[in-house]
Order: sequence, then structure tokens, then C-alpha cells
Amino acid sequence: YPSNPQMGEGSMLERANCRAKGGAPGFKVAILGAAGGIGQPLAMLMKMNPLVSVLHLYDVVNAPGVTADISHMDTGAVVRGFLGQSQLEGALTGMDLVIIPAGIPRKPGMTRDDLFKINAGIVRTLCEGIAKCCPNAIVNLISNPVNSTVPIAAEVFKKAGTYDPKKLLGVTSLDVVRANTFVAEVLGLDPREVEVPVVGGHAGVTILPLLSQVKPPCSFTQEETEYLTKRIQDGGTEVVEAKKGAGSATLSMAYAAVKFADACLKGLRGDAGVVACVFVASQVTELPFFASKVRLGRTGAEEVYQLGPLNEYERIGLEKAKKELAESIQKGISFIRN
Ligand code: NAD
Ligand code: LMR
Repeated sequence: YPSNPQMGEGSMLERANCRAKGGAPGFKVAILGAAGGIGQPLAMLMKMNPLVSVLHLYDVVNAPGVTADISHMDTGAVVRGFLGQSQLEGALTGMDLVIIPAGIPRKPGMTRDDLFKINAGIVRTLCEGIAKCCPNAIVNLISNPVNSTVPIAAEVFKKAGTYDPKKLLGVTSLDVVRANTFVAEVLGLDPREVEVPVVGGHAGVTILPLLSQVKPPCSFTQEETEYLTKRIQDGGTEVVEAKKGAGSATLSMAYAAVKFADACLKGLRGDAGVVACVFVASQVTELPFFASKVRLGRTGAEEVYQLGPLNEYERIGLEKAKKELAESIQKGISFIRN
């Protein structure tokens, strides 16, 4: 979609394509679900990212409007819009990183698993497109329930013969962002000084903050530990209830998604020591997928770190998390296999 029709499509697109091809340094990124509550601010923030040279915005509604709007920002990335299934191939071809916030969000009273029925099919279709058009891209999967959509994506890629476990990443960075904020509040620190590892998965008790490993080193009373763990686990529900039926976290999610996407791009660029928590194929526990700290590099999650020492409270939390995670993972796998 040309952003200024009066200038003529040919010249606009030609110049944009030329700039994109002509070696503007950076990566090609697609956002699938770009017109949504997360998609729009995410598109805006990615357009501001100097590591991005080409930004493809795909949705089944409203992609031209969002694209026209974002394309007026005077930052480096060339923006192109893609509307509907028939344009999915164009959106995906040549991409280095694909970010997926497509799918319905929760309303009050729903669990993330209640979204499975609709979002599972959306994720399947989009991942079939990725397998066909950009099988080497890193995938950042945001659509809920992440604990099941990541296994769904893995099965789709396995079926297509393109599965690379290092490149399929379920986005859990919002849990870390929340944990940093809430812990900083309790400690009276600036959230930017605080680092909380959050492991497990992305729903209720599967979200396991490791408060014994907070940086800078600190200690919490049992009451603080229980308050913080619950607030971090229920962070999504806190937003869903506050929005009263108008959706779930979008702005903090876009921020968290960009933080994680930026880490992926820095890894792709070859930066050393890029570490983040993410839900990924894992041997850290007996489960096939688990969120933990990983090192991001040129080929994705190149190293998955062990959990480190846990205290008694965290060990109990881990057992609960694994029980629920096992079921959610199996549900995702069965959706494709059966
Ligand atoms: P939204 O309804 O505002 O936006 C979703 C967008 O997806 C819409 O624009 C819709 O048109 C689009 N879409 C629907 N089907 C599509 C398809 N087949 N192909 C491409 N696009 C399609 O919802 P939202 O608030 O942006 O949330 C999106 C998803 O992200 C939800 O599933 C939500 O639960 C999840 N989410 C995850 C996290 C996380 O931490 N991983 C955080 C917040 C929200
Ligand atoms: C979140 O954690 O905010 C998201 O997973 C959205 C939700 O449904 O809670």
C-alpha cells in the first residue's frame, strides 16, 4: 500500500524497495495480527527499532490503515502492509523474524485455555505459511495460550520438515517485565535496576518467578514472597479485569514483545551475552517445553540455561507448574497429531 497515492504507486514502491534492497543494514521483520491491540503499538515500536530495515504488517482486517499510519514515521524501516490470507505469502517471504500477536484475547472470567478453540487454528494456519515462505525465520509467538500454541507450532513445523527448536520462541517477557516492576516496588528500587528470572510457562501457576535469584541480591519475607508470586502469576488477569471486557494487556505487552524481539535481533547480529527468559524446547525438566533463561545468538536460542538453586517454596511451585504445563503441552500436540 503506497502511503501517498498522489505520488503514484510505482515510484513510491520502487524507491522503498530500492532502499530496502540497497543494503539499509538491518533485519526483515513481519508482524502477524498487526492491526490488533498488541499489533498496533508493537508495529509502532518496531518501526522505531534501528535494527529493522523492512517491516511487514499482516492482518485479516485493517492492515492498510495501520500501514499507512505507521509508514509516515520518519524512521529507517520500510513498511509494507498485507491484508488477508491471499497476501500471507507476500508478508512472510524473506523474513528474518516473525512476531505473532494474532488471535482473540481474554474477557473477565476466562482462562487463557478458553482461547484455545479459536487461537489454535489461527496459529496453525500462520505457521503453515511460515514453514512454506520463511522456514529459517525466528518465530516469536505471543498468541495465547502460549503453553499450547508453541507445541502446536512445533508440530506444524515438524510436519513440514522445517522444525528448528532453537527458532521457535514463546514470548514470556511480559511476566519478567511485571516481575521486575512489582519486585522493584517492594524493594523501593528503580525497576530498571531489577532482574527477576521467571520460568515455567505463561498461565497462572505455570508462571514461576524465582525470587531467590533476584538481582541485585535481596531477601523477602514469606508474606512478601507470597504476595509477589501471586501478583506476578495473576498480572494478566489484573489487566483483563481492569479493562472490563475490552481485552487484555496490549501496551505493556507490546513493550515486552519489543524488548524480546530486540534481544532476538541483537542475537542474530552476533552480539555476545544476549540472555532472556522464553518458553522454548528444553531439557531443563522432563517436559518438552519450558520457559527459562536462554542465550540468543545467530541461530536463535543457542543455549538453554538450567534453573539454578531453588528454595523450598520454588520447588513446590515448580511441581505445580509442571503438572499444568504437561497437560497444556499435550493438548497442543494432540491438536495437530489427532
Ligand atoms: P486483538 O483482538 O486486539 O488483536 C488480534 C488481532 O489478530 C486482530 O487485529 C485480528 O484481526 C487479528 N487476527 C485474527 N485472526 C487472524 C489471522 N488468522 N491472521 C492474522 N491476524 C489475525 O487481541 P490482542 O489484545 O492484540 O491479543 C492478541 C493475542 O495475544 C491474544 O491471544 C492474547 O491472549 C495474546 N496475549 C499474549 C500475551 C503474552 O504474554 N504472550 C500478552 C497479552 C496478550
Ligand atoms: C497477559 O499475561 O497479560 C496475557 O497473557 C493476556 C492474558 O490473557 O492475561
